[in-house]
Amino acid sequence: MKTVLEFLEEHPDQFVSGELIANALSMTRANVWKEIQKLKSKNYCIESVRNQGYKLLSRNNNISVSYIESLLNPNTLRGIEYLESVDSTNTYAKDLAKDSNLSDVLIVSDNQTAGRGRMGRSFYSPSQNGVYMSFILRPTTHLEDTQLLTLAAAVAVIKSLKQCLDIDAQIKWLNDIYINNQKLSGILTEGEIILESQSYKYLVLGIGINVFTDNDIPDSISNIYTSIDKHTTRAIDRNECVAAIANNFYEIYNSLPDSREKLLDEYRTACFILGEEVWINNDPKQAVTAVDINDQGHLLVKDNHGNERLLYSGEVSIGGKFKHES
Ligand code: BTN
Repeated sequence: MKTVLEFLEEHPDQFVSGELIANALSMTRANVWKEIQKLKSKNYCIESVRNQGYKLLSRNNNISVSYIESLLNPNTLRGIEYLESVDSTNTYAKDLAKDSNLSDVLIVSDNQTAGRGRMGRSFYSPSQNGVYMSFILRPTTHLEDTQLLTLAAAVAVIKSLKQCLDIDAQIKWLNDIYINNQKLSGILTEGEIILESQSYKYLVLGIGINVFTDNDIPDSISNIYTSIDKHTTRAIDRNECVAAIANNFYEIYNSLPDSREKLLDEYRTACFILGEEVWINNDPKQAVTAVDINDQGHLLVKDNHGNERLLYSGEVSIGGKFKHES
């Protein structure tokens, strides 16, 4: 069933009468009026003129599922669920995925009360100032390539920020998006595998982005926290960012593993730690040089005796000059 908001969005730049909306949505005019008041209280800018009806002037950056859907390319998402607030979009998406066959569905929220990052960290997720999204996926690629999906998401975020807002962001292996040594976005990939068939039961890929300046940033992250609005003069529409990320992600995801080399090239170009000294688990005694990203997305590092080893996503955090806390 269509909502009043969707009806207004389908009639841009024009007044639609309460009666027309009521008839189209099989509701009373009084209920239409109530829905309009609810939208106004959520900061939707709606003009009401006697004898003419209602016109949507601005979404004021509210998340709009129908607007995101209208911007999606074919062969991307099959559905989007919007939640005003949730503990964690990843937790919610995992619960949904466990008990269903849902695939290529996006959960998007304005607020997380228990946003999670890698290695048991929390992800600061203030209401309205960010965007928190999780894809439910059922990949058919090899389990050993799991990390490529996190890489694909990171590249998708970088490309989308460039396309939508002309922002040049960079990647800190494995899953962080930075600008000038400050963190703008993080990615958390979780899932379940079926051991017998060595395949995925489901995968949930969550992306959190700091969009607008937040005035209550905890002291523990205030020096490494940044948001999109500090880096662009363009008007930011979170819906356009979400749609661009989905489009860019699926362009890579749908063509893996064939697009592996292209993905790795794009990732390496954007990854600012390559050639730099990093500390494993933020321990100066474990200082190494980040050398390369291998075909599975693992990080090749070299210690000062020239010994090389691979770092895998789950085991390490990269600190030192690139300190990372959530
Ligand atoms: C990290 O910084 O280590 C990763 C952060 C990932 C945050 C996103 S926000 C959407 C999704 N839901 C979560 O609880 N986490 C991810």
